[in-house]
Amino acid sequence: MTDLVSASAPGKIILVGEHAVVYGRPAIAVPVWDVQARATIAPAAPGAGCTLHAPDLGQILPLADAPPDNALALILRLTLAHLSLPPFPDWTVTVTSQIPIASGLGSGAALATALVRAVFAKAGKTAQPDVVSDLVFQSETLYHGTPSGIDNTVIAFGQPVWFVRGTPPITFSPRLRFALAIADSGIAAPTKETVGDVRRSWQAAPAKFEVLFDRMGGIATQVRGLMEQDGGEVGRWRALGGLFRRNQQLLAEIGVSSEPLERLIEAAQAAGSFGAKLSGGGRGGNIIALVDPAHPQPVIDALTAAGAKRVIFTTVGKK
Ligand code: MEV
Repeated sequence: MTDLVSASAPGKIILVGEHAVVYGRPAIAVPVWDVQARATIAPAAPGAGCTLHAPDLGQILPLADAPPDNALALILRLTLAHLSLPPFPDWTVTVTSQIPIASGLGSGAALATALVRAVFAKAGKTAQPDVVSDLVFQSETLYHGTPSGIDNTVIAFGQPVWFVRGTPPITFSPRLRFALAIADSGIAAPTKETVGDVRRSWQAAPAKFEVLFDRMGGIATQVRGLMEQDGGEVGRWRALGGLFRRNQQLLAEIGVSSEPLERLIEAAQAAGSFGAKLSGGGRGGNIIALVDPAHPQPVIDALTAAGAKRVIFTTVGKK
């Protein structure tokens, strides 16, 4: 085994298709490299056992004492078992993250991915993205009852992903370059709650919800088409923005938008965004606003003035 090892993983954002993806419709997500999670494993004194250190959370925890619902301990245990390593190696495992928690940027999946990769590196093994993704998925089920698997997939593969639950993910390199302002409402996205509420609403009115999910799936198909075509960028940004707006209306119809999110979306659009929508579970977390890559500042300023706690500017696709 090697000495000190370190591994990282990006954040992610869902472009279109959240919630509908839980019901088998396609969704598209992209990695956000501007914010990352990192895991470092240092050897500890012989017999010291394994300690999990999360300075951002003020947490130092011997792995042997970690409660069963501790997600980091769970993913660490799963990975050690997967690699047939001892259950309590003499390690100090430190995890840090720049990714805001519960904001739709995949903070939990990114921390878990970084941790899995670090354990593989410590064992001198190559971490294949599909294996990493599977292990992280198992820990993700702790956070929300019926995760689709999109978060772990896009983060473990580190590429834009076309995702249909239960089928192998398709990674792709977009031919369209575009820019996003990702604005954090500062309200924790209660993903487990919104996924549960949507399930109850779907159970109460299945025909209505199937139609809404179909429309969201249709939008994802059109977005992929725009991302993979060649041609004028501005026209495609406008079309993409229109699809973001339409997806947002549908997300509001299924009950996962909120007043603070709508305020951010309206502010972005009034300041010149081509289109904006919530991203992820909703009722909190982030909105994404499609912006002109050369002139993002008016939208970023408008989002800040409308109460965004943080705005991340990122570009997707060919540079
Ligand atoms: C959460 O990031 C995205 C949802 O579609 C839930 C899921 O896919 O598991 C709301």
